[in-house]
Amino acid sequence: MTDATLDTPSTRRITVRSLHKASAIVLLTFVFFHLTNHLSGLFGILVYNAVQDTFRVVYRFLPIEILLLLIISMQVVFGVVLLVRSLRRGRPKGFWSWAQVLSGGIFAFFMVEHLYALYMARIKFALETDFYWPASVMSGAPFTYYFIPYYFLGVLAIMTHIGVGMRYWAIDAGRPALGDRLGFGFMIAGAAIGAAIIPMLTGALFPIEMPPEWLNYLRYFLPGYTPNAG
Ligand code: HEM
Repeated sequence: MTDATLDTPSTRRITVRSLHKASAIVLLTFVFFHLTNHLSGLFGILVYNAVQDTFRVVYRFLPIEILLLLIISMQVVFGVVLLVRSLRRGRPKGFWSWAQVLSGGIFAFFMVEHLYALYMARIKFALETDFYWPASVMSGAPFTYYFIPYYFLGVLAIMTHIGVGMRYWAIDAGRPALGDRLGFGFMIAGAAIGAAIIPMLTGALFPIEMPPEWLNYLRYFLPGYTPNAG
């Protein structure tokens, strides 16, 4: 009896890779709405917060929020396991392997920091993580030296990683040309969305008056800090 005959749905082995793929499909929906929320900020702070309130009806419903935070945490763990295994097999070969490994590594770092910062803002400082949360760390130097590349690369990395996954899916379906188009398409979309979010959060598009509670939050990390962006 060969492996192929054993490969029926009921006997298919659950692997880190299959769990990573399954979680990715679930998270794709959240990423789509989350990035849409950030782009809605191009129309102003009130629009950003109104769109966030609408989407929160779903992802802030406690059972869903717990599931979301669990899946995204597991996704980072699975991703790091796959990354270590892949690097143990040797240097990535070719553009798409490098794109997969680099985007995976950058996104894992982005997400660990994003979840830690979410905990600090929401739990430790009991702040409302609306528009002013990301805008606070984009309000001036030295925070911007770190958070402009952080947010840009975070969005570029997640979209590139999704694009590489879509490419493998299209290649498996016998559509290599479509695969390359999807891969490059997601990468370019990631760069465009990342680039659009930066002027929005730094106050280059409209003035942002930082509320005192967010100045207090920033001064926890940098005593005496005064916003100077925009
Ligand atoms: C420029 C990029 C990003 C910005 C400015 C940003 C900003 C935010 C904000 C403001 C919140 C709080 C939401 C709320 O309180 O309702 C949040 C939560 C969150 N973000 Fe992001 N985010 C970014 C990218 C991402 C990406 C790429 C992911 C990947 C999946 C992600 C995953 C999450 C998760 C899981 C939460 C927690 C949701 C919750 O439980 O309330 N973020 N982010």
